[in-house]
Amino acid sequence: MVFLGPPGAGKGTQAAVVAKRLGIVHLATGDILREAVRQGTELGQQAKEYMDRGELVPDSLVVDLVMDRISGPDAAAGAVLDGFPRSIAQAEALDGALSRMGSGVDAVVYLRVSEAELVRRLSLRWECSQCRTPYHGESRPPKRPGICDLCGGVLTQREDDRPETVRRRLKVYYEQTAPLLEYYREKGVLAEVDGEEPIPLVTERVLEAIGSTVGRVQRGAWMG
Ligand code: AP5
Repeated sequence: MVFLGPPGAGKGTQAAVVAKRLGIVHLATGDILREAVRQGTELGQQAKEYMDRGELVPDSLVVDLVMDRISGPDAAAGAVLDGFPRSIAQAEALDGALSRMGSGVDAVVYLRVSEAELVRRLSLRWECSQCRTPYHGESRPPKRPGICDLCGGVLTQREDDRPETVRRRLKVYYEQTAPLLEYYREKGVLAEVDGEEPIPLVTERVLEAIGSTVGRVQRGAWMG
């Protein structure tokens, strides 16, 4: 399944919980790319300049990376994709790869959040430098300032959460990623969830939406 939404919509927050509840792997391309940047790998060095500008990393660097991960043994039972696909070309590559594996996208969850709320969230976002759990200065503060509740790691802010880069990321989202809403609506797998409710309520809505979308898709396949 796929999580779609603008920067700060809560894709990472919700995808992590849903993957855990469903017992399937969570693949976040942003996290994979940021880890590559930290490790200084060739991928990281190439991706960094695009990420710092708030632009999409070229498909040639991202698509094979995701295809490798979804065909691996840990994704055999399924995967929650967070941050991929981000363009029609990436969605078509994903559909092609999954259909060769006799599979497909079961549900796409779109988290709908207003632009004012997105900017508010990204300006106060913190994340754990160790386990990457996201926090927010107001809506999800850590119990001890600057320290992760789960692993005790130090909390840091992301380079691309600077205001001018956030504006660029939003523009890139509207131009290149938003067309995926229509792409998946036409395929009958899109579920829209109000992402402005409190985090636990959004999780419940997301799980309900996934259940009904997967049920509808499976009934459709069964009826031919
Ligand atoms: P990526 O890491 O995917 O960033 P993004 O899509 O911009 O999304 P974010 O991680 O900023 O937000 P989110 O929706 O996950 O929200 P979160 O849960 O953190 O990508 C970064 C870069 O990598 C891209 O710009 C690009 O360069 C590159 N890249 C990645 N994938 C790529 C691809 N496929 N192709 C090409 N390039 C790619 O929540 C945000 C904050 O809000 C947190 O503080 C959280 O605690 C809080 N929050 C969450 N939910 C709620 C709620 N319901 N109420 C109140 N606060 C909330």
